[in-house]
Amino acid sequence: MPNRSVRSISKPLLAWYDRERRDLPWRAKPGETPDPYRVWLSEIMLQQTTVATVGPYYGYFLARWPTVGDLAAAGFDDVLHAWQGLGYYSRARNLHRCAREIADRLGGAFPDTEAALRKLPGIGPYTAAAVAAIAFGRKATPVDGNIERVMARLHAVDQPLPGAKKAIKALAEALTPDDRAGDFAQALMDLGATVCKPRGPACGACPLAQVCRAAAEGAPERYPVRPPKKARPTRHGVVFWAERGDGAVLLRRRPEDGLLGGMMEFPSTEWREQPWPEGAWADAAPLRADWAPVAGTVVHTFTHFRLELDIVRARVDGPGGGNQTWCRPDAFARQALPTVMKKVAAAVAGRS
Ligand code: ADE
Ligand code: SF4
Repeated sequence: MPNRSVRSISKPLLAWYDRERRDLPWRAKPGETPDPYRVWLSEIMLQQTTVATVGPYYGYFLARWPTVGDLAAAGFDDVLHAWQGLGYYSRARNLHRCAREIADRLGGAFPDTEAALRKLPGIGPYTAAAVAAIAFGRKATPVDGNIERVMARLHAVDQPLPGAKKAIKALAEALTPDDRAGDFAQALMDLGATVCKPRGPACGACPLAQVCRAAAEGAPERYPVRPPKKARPTRHGVVFWAERGDGAVLLRRRPEDGLLGGMMEFPSTEWREQPWPEGAWADAAPLRADWAPVAGTVVHTFTHFRLELDIVRARVDGPGGGNQTWCRPDAFARQALPTVMKKVAAAVAGRS
């Protein structure tokens, strides 16, 4: 049985990282001191978003708000607008709150321990460990999807995810070296992204092939083991496209909690499992009007369900109330519209 001690893994892995590390905009160059603000900003952006998507956003944020103090002093609307496309309003909200707390309460300095970082808005166990390790050289072990996959393969973890998360985290912690914990984590991330890919891992090019149980078994893709897939349910909704004489369309803000929290949407019925027969949706309309169907159904897939939206439209007059806004389609880009609502707007534009 190959020896999977700390050194037998960290030594070849770090040597590989020194040769092959990806040149990512938020990474300190070898020999440079990492800037905690940059590390934190990138890690928040990288939650649930790919490296390729984050690149331009990160560059823009850093150019516009070079320090945590600059970000703290920004208006939240400007931050939210710059965040458009990274998804999840609550993450932008917490990003800004966190910057303010650091600027106002902590004199502009990030805490340098995992435990203290955990207390800040938007910083969960993963981000606290990532910032502690990468920015401050603390011995901490962030575990993202890439690291999870590498660990599951290295140890041939038979237990399916997500149940195996705790065990996998413990394995990763046990392998973390005292020195260079941040590079160790980033090396595993890079290995997962470029070599130990979900499909077709390149074991021949892997610095860990000699100690990897999955590679020894000959079928590394078997790991991480997944539980049998549940079918995604379909939900149905009807969207009300209310258009004024000047072309402005009615929007409302979604509640802050829950799916697409705080983002804008065209008013719609509830998204439910039964379809909405003609007429059944009329009570949910935001205004009394002569609603006419728009041909075609908008389909969007969320993590937990597939959504089918039918659209009805009407010419209306009069103001909205409460959490409602009117906006012309040429100004939609300035609204926090989630992808599903952009699809609705595109469907209507395509039918006009
Ligand atoms: N994904 C999340 N954080 C990352 C990092 N620091 N480097 C590469 N990929 C990442
Ligand atoms: Fe992944 Fe193959 Fe390397 Fe094992 S040897 S860590 S399966 S790429």
